[in-house]
Amino acid sequence: MPSPLILVNLKTYKEGMGNRAHQIATAAQLVARESGTTIGIAPNFIDLHPLCHHFTIPVYAQHVDGSEPGAHTGQINADAIKFAGATGSLVNHSERRLTLADIEASVRALQAHKLIAIVCTNNDITSAAASALSPEYVAIEPPELIGSGVSVSKANPEIIRKSVAAVHAINPKIKVLTGAGIQSGECVKIAVDLGTDGVLLASSVVKSADPAAVLRDLVSKL
Ligand code: G3P
Repeated sequence: MPSPLILVNLKTYKEGMGNRAHQIATAAQLVARESGTTIGIAPNFIDLHPLCHHFTIPVYAQHVDGSEPGAHTGQINADAIKFAGATGSLVNHSERRLTLADIEASVRALQAHKLIAIVCTNNDITSAAASALSPEYVAIEPPELIGSGVSVSKANPEIIRKSVAAVHAINPKIKVLTGAGIQSGECVKIAVDLGTDGVLLASSVVKSADPAAVLRDLVSKL
């Protein structure tokens, strides 16, 4: 069994920028080495390049546009994140929703650059739709629980179960993550026991005074 992925989205939290992004990456790399678990981070675009160069853990972009290099001011394309050293990108996060056509373009652009596509969804129906685009991962996050401190694993295990089934009915090779309110080893264990390949989380790690302690707890029941 490959190790589950624990992916920490730093969003645009002040506590996840600049030096603090480096501190969280340091904690993630330490706990990944101690535990043998794969722990990745998704910093803002400004921090992407330095983190890729200073750390060996997987570093993901929070968004990518499907556009080709050229005259597209303000866009961030797959070439740019590949040059920066990223492992892949989130696509269609609840806080950065895209049209279906845009999601497809982003997934294709990532895959053309051998980058990993993690398409975020909000329920089992959109999880099935995202699976038709054959990303490497689908990440189901009920928006109402994001940042709430209430874990999807405990509040809505049914949405995880249904999403895993919906994704695997389309393509059993696609991996499934879940997120929203994930904060403990117990939340991670429930998610993995329900058939996911890991979790996507933010506030419990980013806002903690001791990110390494939270990460150690997150991986403690794997
Ligand atoms: O991308 C992860 C995220 O949306 C979940 O956020 O703060 O509920 O862990 P949080």
